[in-house]
Amino acid sequence: MFMQQLKGSLALWTFIFIPTVAGLDNDGRSVWGKESSSSFVNETQMFLQDTFPKKFFWGVGTSAFQVEGAQRKDGRGPSIWEEFTRSELRAGSRTDDSSDSYIFWQKDLAALEFLGVSSYHFSISWPRLFPTGTVTAVNEKGLQYYNSLLDALVQRHIEPVVTLYHWDLPWILYERYGGWKNESLIGVFDDYATFCFQAFGDRVKYWITIHNPYLVAWHGYGTGIHAPGEKEESAVPLVGHNLIKVQYREISLSQI
Ligand SMILES: *[C@@H]1O[C@H](CO)[C@@H](O)[C@H](O)[C@H]1NC(C)=O
Ligand SMILES: *[C@@H]1O[C@H](CO)[C@@H](O)[C@H](O)[C@H]1NC(C)=O
Repeated sequence: MFMQQLKGSLALWTFIFIPTVAGLDNDGRSVWGKESSSSFVNETQMFLQDTFPKKFFWGVGTSAFQVEGAQRKDGRGPSIWEEFTRSELRAGSRTDDSSDSYIFWQKDLAALEFLGVSSYHFSISWPRLFPTGTVTAVNEKGLQYYNSLLDALVQRHIEPVVTLYHWDLPWILYERYGGWKNESLIGVFDDYATFCFQAFGDRVKYWITIHNPYLVAWHGYGTGIHAPGEKEESAVPLVGHNLIKVQYREISLSQI
């Protein structure tokens, strides 16, 4: 029964392995060097027990839109993804509940403990934190949710790895600016990112700016198979350019 709860409450769709920046001091090679018969260039030995450096992160990852559910709860605003799934992709299918991590996050934490991971990679839902897209009005309930999640992770010694943008652009920003085609979004994202760095930076050491920007640009604006579903290949380089600018700016901002 416990396993069923685990399955239901955590989407284990990806395993991630992240070497910490501080961990790149050749500890991998020194582990291999312990035995004369082992070699780090021998592929069949790559996953032998005891070949990962001590500081290696073992973790699981999710994204907000895929696991949080509660799309209309506690003041969250709509994002381009539920508009997209509702209108085009799977007409009639319900995406609202997802695996309901917004409600059952404590069960998910129990699942992380059960798995014994040392890191958890998740994304912040921009429209949950800022339903209007801009930082003028933070949604206190959303803020409280991420604060509780982060506190609980830190308490359990599970390193949070946080993505700022895993594709769920606030719908209102798409309406107002036309999404990432518009350079104005860079400044709006800056404000959102700065808020996150200030609010969560005391607990988050590892930030990921944009999850898979290639897919955001190509499938979001070129092929139209991802939200917002535009099919305008000539817009793709512009979107890519704006996303690269965002990456660059957030790297500088997060150092402050
Ligand atoms: C690679 O490792 C395997 C398993 O330890 C061993 O059987 C094999 O001979 C090694 N190959 C080379 C080229 O060292
Ligand atoms: C960007 O958004 C502004 C404000 O809505 C609008 O005036 C402008 O035309 C948009 N630019 C593009 C390239 O869509």
